[in-house]
Amino acid sequence: MKNLLISLIVSAGLMSAAHAGDAEAGKTKSALCAACHGADGNSMAPNFPKIAGQGERYLIKQITDVREGRRQILEMSGIVANLSDADIADIAAYFSSQNATGGGAKEELAELGEKIYRAGIESKGVPACMACHGPDGKGVALAGFPQLSGQHDAYTAKQLHAFSMGERTNDGDNKMMRDIASRLHEKEIQAVSSYIQGLR
Ligand code: HEC
Ligand code: HEC
Repeated sequence: MKNLLISLIVSAGLMSAAHAGDAEAGKTKSALCAACHGADGNSMAPNFPKIAGQGERYLIKQITDVREGRRQILEMSGIVANLSDADIADIAAYFSSQNATGGGAKEELAELGEKIYRAGIESKGVPACMACHGPDGKGVALAGFPQLSGQHDAYTAKQLHAFSMGERTNDGDNKMMRDIASRLHEKEIQAVSSYIQGLR
């Protein structure tokens, strides 16, 4: 117990030493991102993910991963190359403070999608997405589990394909998402992506 308290105090100290994102400063810096992601992070085109309302920790990790080459996004690498850690924290604070818009789910896929999202597929060892991404798809911001709700279905499906093919590898040493996505058939990917687009 004593050790736990000490480590909590130490990590709290470390966190306050890091630059806390400033959403006002981030708003100005986010001009670099608006053309693709929308001024408030609600992109219109399905190949550009919505980043409005996304958890700060996840945003900081993804932008840093792109800058360091751990996640390959050709459209973005030149833009983020010159961002400092403080810039990234400010921009993440700004987009995180915006409200995400929702979308709709395709009726014919809704039932299968809901089943996978809420219960997983036991026979294939696929866990419920809800366990980490939350019952309403809002994620767990402090843990870095991303919000998925309202995301363009084409983007979500593309990420599941990329995890499954091993093209996106920044999900940690335990390969959590690579392992899950590789167990899903095409129809299951389409269904769960559509269901997620309809979550709000
Ligand atoms: C030229 C277009 C373009 C610009 C400008 C751009 N991005 Fe992106 N961004 C993309 C694309 C495309 C993806 C998704 C790539 C994929 O499909 O994996 C992406 C993905 C992301 C992701 C990952 C989202 C997720 O849910 O995992 C974040 C975060 C992000 N961008 C932040 C930014 C920030 C911050 C800026 C400005 C500093 C920016 N982007 C500028 C095109 C752009
Ligand atoms: C054990 C926890 C866990 C479970 C269960 C889980 N995920 Fe994830 N998921 C994560 C984490 C953590 C990440 C972020 C990885 C990273 O940092 O790049 C993620 C990322 C994602 C992404 C990328 C989000 C983005 O914006 O690019 C998608 C899509 C996704 N998960 C879908 C699913 C689906 C669909 C299911 C259920 C079939 C599922 N996840 C189950 C933990 C989980």
